[in-house]
Amino acid sequence: MNKIQKMKIKEILSETISQINDARYQYYVSDLIENDVVLSMKNYIQHGTTTTFDHCLSVSYYSYKIAKKFNLDARSVARAGLLHDLFLYDWHKVMEKKPLFQKHGFTHPKAALDNAVKYFNLNDIEKDIIEKHMWPLTLRKVPKYRESIIVTMVDKYCSTRETFAPLVEKIRKLNFIIRKQYL
Ligand SMILES: [Fe+2]
Ligand SMILES: [Fe+2]
Repeated sequence: MNKIQKMKIKEILSETISQINDARYQYYVSDLIENDVVLSMKNYIQHGTTTTFDHCLSVSYYSYKIAKKFNLDARSVARAGLLHDLFLYDWHKVMEKKPLFQKHGFTHPKAALDNAVKYFNLNDIEKDIIEKHMWPLTLRKVPKYRESIIVTMVDKYCSTRETFAPLVEKIRKLNFIIRKQYL
């Protein structure tokens, strides 16, 4: 990626984040959102047509809103939500022939945590959120904090929505065509 491309992406990102009209959220994640490592998640598809970056942004923001409502550590939730899938590879292309417990679903929380601590300073709640976000799939990695449980649940919600989004869109278009032709 050259400098101009990077600047362009940062510009788009600034727009994305300003659309999330919450000054406190923006303040909590502003340094992460413009970091090149975090930005590189835009290069990978997570579910359906959603990039890993967009997935993390959704998980981060919705989890932050819930944490704020329950007077929990919304800052840690927002930041760790944004980093929870920082594994930095195309998971569709790797690990397919590996044994079950070495497949992406089981191993990527550790990969994401390793990357996150390599590039950023994380507190214990943030580390727990990233490491345990695939629970209950990762049976022994039980979330320790209420903040971690929120991200775990929101991650499942966003993942399901993103996976089915292309199908929902197709049905919507088909419905539109049928209505136009026959009604
Ligand atoms: Fe994940
Ligand atoms: Fe995720």
